[in-house]
Amino acid sequence: MIPGLTDFAMPFLRTLDPERAHELTLIAMETGLFPRQCEADDPRLAQKIGGLEFQNPIGIAAGFDKDARVPDAILDSGFGYAEVGTLTPQPQTGNRKPRIFRLSADRAMINRLGFNNEGYAKALVRLKRRKRRGVIGVNIGANKDSTDREADYVAGLEALSGVADYFTVNISSPNTPGLRDLQAPKELDSLLAKLMQKRAELVETGVPSRPIAVKLSPDIADDDIAPICDRLMAHGVDGLIISNTTLGRTGLRGREHVNEAGGLSGAPLYERSTGLLAKVYVLTKGQIPLIGVGGINSGETALGKIEAGASLIQLYTGLVYEGPGLIGRIKQALLSGIERAGANSITDIIGTKSGDWAAKT
Ligand SMILES: Cc1cc2nc3c(=O)[nH]c(=O)nc-3n(C[C@H](O)[C@H](O)[C@H](O)COP(=O)(O)O)c2cc1C
Repeated sequence: MIPGLTDFAMPFLRTLDPERAHELTLIAMETGLFPRQCEADDPRLAQKIGGLEFQNPIGIAAGFDKDARVPDAILDSGFGYAEVGTLTPQPQTGNRKPRIFRLSADRAMINRLGFNNEGYAKALVRLKRRKRRGVIGVNIGANKDSTDREADYVAGLEALSGVADYFTVNISSPNTPGLRDLQAPKELDSLLAKLMQKRAELVETGVPSRPIAVKLSPDIADDDIAPICDRLMAHGVDGLIISNTTLGRTGLRGREHVNEAGGLSGAPLYERSTGLLAKVYVLTKGQIPLIGVGGINSGETALGKIEAGASLIQLYTGLVYEGPGLIGRIKQALLSGIERAGANSITDIIGTKSGDWAAKT
């Protein structure tokens, strides 16, 4: 077996340049060389959200499979769903390499990829060829040189509604200059109005209505959280993904690569992203399903996200450091958490500690 995705192979992969190690991992998965989860998930981990059935709440975060090369393999390896992308209308190469850095002492990464991807059309072909069922989200963005960013997102709905189970509107990547400005309430209003209108038009032509989630930045100022939530609720957004990477560098203990530009992910992002998640859960009174992402690297940190208010979780950097065995450990920890709480299913423990999290961060 190629040293692909087994825990045993992780130390070897970590000796390679991060982008090369990632490409090798994708090739292993494309070739079928990866560990599969054979047994069915415990039914206490299952949920129906936005009309979609999730066998378990653990998803792979955007950026792992930008071009929808291995969504079925991701599901086969035990994830409850996969989010592919970020995809943009036109292919683009992204920033100059090197552009991914491991901060091993902090179990973190910095990336400034800049939406390198092969564009909507290629992803459409790949997603049409899928062989298996299971939830696939499509994360959409705007091209760097776009003259109409809103139109880029609208084009994503138009191109990919036939193959996406849900969409994520990524307006929080720090690596496309100015993109995060779309989070301002006025810009959000304009973008969401266009997206909701396009979805309604598509439904009229017989295309299924796909849930639309918005992915937020952990760097939103405290005072801006309420007005942003207000606009998201007003437009009837179906879900929120909290959060993307941070430009912040607080809490880093190591020195290696700390001055590289880009978004920081992994363990140092955990408190910040979980705090924002809890605040949004409290503000929206649990009415919008939240996907918690940022710094999950153990069963305990995964359970923490659910208790802070996440219905679903996602991870990326934790997988790089811990290997795919992490997925099974998270499931075990979630089941233990359900039992400890005297609950019947994952749904019963969502947000049970949101007040504590919102107050302490
Ligand atoms: C190498 C890399 C590439 C990423 N690319 C994307 C992307 O294309 N779109 C996106 O929405 N998020 C992207 N992210 C952010 C992740 O989806 C996630 O929000 C973030 O890394 C925090 O989760 P983690 O700490 O589990 O990695 C990327 C992250 C990494 C590390």
